[in-house]
Amino acid sequence: MEFLSFSEVIMEQNQVILNAIKYIKTFFVGESSGHDYEHSIRVYNLALRLATNEKADSFIVSLASILHDVDDRKLSPNTSSNKNNAREFLKSQNIDNETSSKVIEIIEEVSFKGKDSVVPKTIESKCVQDADRLDAIGAIGVARAFAYGGNHNRKMYDPEIPPKANQSEKEYYNNNSTTINHFYEKLLLLKDMLNTEAAKEIARKRHEYLEGFLNEFIDEWNGRK
Ligand code: ADP
Ligand code: NI
Repeated sequence: MEFLSFSEVIMEQNQVILNAIKYIKTFFVGESSGHDYEHSIRVYNLALRLATNEKADSFIVSLASILHDVDDRKLSPNTSSNKNNAREFLKSQNIDNETSSKVIEIIEEVSFKGKDSVVPKTIESKCVQDADRLDAIGAIGVARAFAYGGNHNRKMYDPEIPPKANQSEKEYYNNNSTTINHFYEKLLLLKDMLNTEAAKEIARKRHEYLEGFLNEFIDEWNGRK
C-alpha cells in the first residue's frame, strides 16, 4: 500500500472534487426543472460554508453535495433507489468503501419527503440537507418552484384547490397541485426542519422573502394592488 503525505492527499481530493464538478456539468445539460448544474454548485458552496462552521469533514460534504441530485427520482428514476450514478462515479475515482458509503448515505437522507423526511445521522449529512433546503427558499426558491411548475405543466395558482397539510412521502410524491400550493406544502415548512444554527440564521431572511412574495402575489391576484 502506498502512503501519501498530507499535501498529496489534499491534492488527490481536490482532483476528485474537480472531476465530480465536471461530471455533473455534463449530467445536467438541458435540465430546466430546478435541479440544474447551478443548483448543485450552490448547494456545494452553501454546504461547505456550513461544514466549516460545524468542523465537519469537508471532502465528504463536497462529494455528497456535488452528487446529491444525480440519482434524483425525477431525473433518474432507474437509479433513484440504488444510487448507481453516484456509486459509479465514486468507483471511477477509486474512492475507498468507507468514504463511498458515507457519501451515499448522505444522498439517501437529503430529500424532502413531507412528514417522512429524515433527520440526518451525521453532521456532514446535516450540512448537505440544510444546504439543499436553503436553495429551495428565498428568491432562488421562488424561481425554482415556478421553473419546476412550468416544466411539469402545473398551474401557478388556483384558489379552488387548497394546499394539503402534513403529507406523507407517498402523498407528497403523487401530489400535482399548483405551484403556490407547493409553498404551503413544502417551502414554508423548511425553516423549521433545518439542522444547523448557521442554516437557521440564513433561512430567516429567505423565509421572510417567501412570505412577502406570497402576500404580494395574492394581493395582485385579487386586484388589491
Ligand atoms: P429535494 O431537493 O428535497 O429532493 P425536490 O426534488 O422535491 O426536493 O425539489 C427540487 C426543486 O423543485 C425545489 O426547489 C422544489 O421546491 C421544486 N419543486 C418540487 N416539487 C415542486 C412542485 N410540486 N411545485 C413547484 N416546485 C416544486
Ligand atoms: Ni437538490
